[in-house]
Amino acid sequence: MNVDRSAAPRFVPVWDIGVRGFHWMLVTAVLVAMSTGLVFGRTSLAWHLGAGVAVVVLVAWRVIWGLLGPRYARFASFAYRPAAVIAHLRDMLHGRHRRHLGHNPLGAMMVFALLAALTALGLSGAISLGGMLKQGPLRAFLSYATGVQVLDLHYLMALLLLAMIGAHLGGVAFESWRGQENLVAAMLTGDKLAQFPEDAAPPARAHPRLALVLLLAVLATAAAATVALTALPGRGAPPAALDPVFAEQCGACHLAFPPSLAPKSTWNGILADLEHHFGADATLSPGQVTQIRNWLGANAADHWDNLPSHVLRLPAADGSRRITDAPGWRQRHHAIADTVFAAKPVYRRSNCIACHADAATGQFAPQDIAIPDAAAPLRAAAPP
Ligand code: HEC
Ligand code: HEC
Repeated sequence: MNVDRSAAPRFVPVWDIGVRGFHWMLVTAVLVAMSTGLVFGRTSLAWHLGAGVAVVVLVAWRVIWGLLGPRYARFASFAYRPAAVIAHLRDMLHGRHRRHLGHNPLGAMMVFALLAALTALGLSGAISLGGMLKQGPLRAFLSYATGVQVLDLHYLMALLLLAMIGAHLGGVAFESWRGQENLVAAMLTGDKLAQFPEDAAPPARAHPRLALVLLLAVLATAAAATVALTALPGRGAPPAALDPVFAEQCGACHLAFPPSLAPKSTWNGILADLEHHFGADATLSPGQVTQIRNWLGANAADHWDNLPSHVLRLPAADGSRRITDAPGWRQRHHAIADTVFAAKPVYRRSNCIACHADAATGQFAPQDIAIPDAAAPLRAAAPP
């Protein structure tokens, strides 16, 4: 930052580019994470995960810069003692305004609280991703139930973060008014008006190169660990490979439905009456039936701990053997109009792969859901 110091300095650099860049990139990433997480639904998960990773990387940078950055970036410059916070509150109550060029004691507490909340959101997000969707670095270690519980926590923390952001904006507005200075502009330009001689004290030396090297080292380590952990099989996730007899016989007319999509009772019911198979004759030799029954039984929804197996393991109450009649299936697809299912190229509800690109693997990841373009316009046109 080039500031003319030849005359008595009026403006002093306070927020360096490391802090400002962090701040506004964080604003962007949090906006994307909040909107994809709270508004746009599960099919925007890829964007949500991208924003979440960006937030975590930014927080890591801020921690490093809080140790190696210039004067006002450093945690040490705004790690106030409780007594200072109380004195600040007392000043506020009595209408006294003591100016802080960097963060004031309350603002400083908010910075630390925001960093902690963002870290907790990143962690709880990774836990629910690993447990529920069997994705990400924690997929090998966590149960579906843990993922579901922690997702509730993730959601609550997102609401808490929104409240904190509201308080932060309120604080900025209040301090701008009280001190008659535009604090938003200061976070854009980095400069603030110097009022006291000590304001112009030379800033503590920053170590930008060391900070960047440290950040890269942290990122490289985290990336390597993530790649290694993500290569482990998901805990309780079914393998994609199918029994060859099943794949050939039960994949002849439609997608060979992964066995994790229905409970053992449904599969046994289907195999008990292949002659009248949803209007088709799918009769097989007794030997083939036995082999398929054993394999389906050993790999049915009851055996797995991934999202589809939990959603679909309860069969329809009326005894229907359709996956698409299972209450969990109905619940997940109730917002989709009948006309969408009937339209080309979907044609029928059971044609999972038309909308779930990964249907054959049994994963049904949110990132792989897309209603085909030809059918999509009907979604809006259809009656509710
Ligand atoms: C001769 C063709 C044919 C063969 C072979 C066949 N099916 Fe089907 N299957 C159908 C038809 C037709 C439907 C009904 C599709 C629809 O209405 O959505 C169906 C539907 C199903 C459904 C219900 C889908 C839903 O709506 O939830 C399941 C489950 C199923 N089949 C499993 C199997 C299994 C297991 C095998 C192997 C033992 C098998 N199918 C072999 C033709 C076949
Ligand atoms: C017309 C397109 C379409 C078809 C066909 C379809 N689905 Fe879906 N499915 C969706 C959409 C869209 C969602 C996401 C709904 C939402 O936003 O909550 C979804 C959600 C799901 C989910 C929950 C995913 C999650 O992360 O919560 C599962 C499991 C699922 N579908 C299974 C199936 C199975 C099994 C079939 C075939 C028997 C099937 N779907 C057929 C469009 C489809």
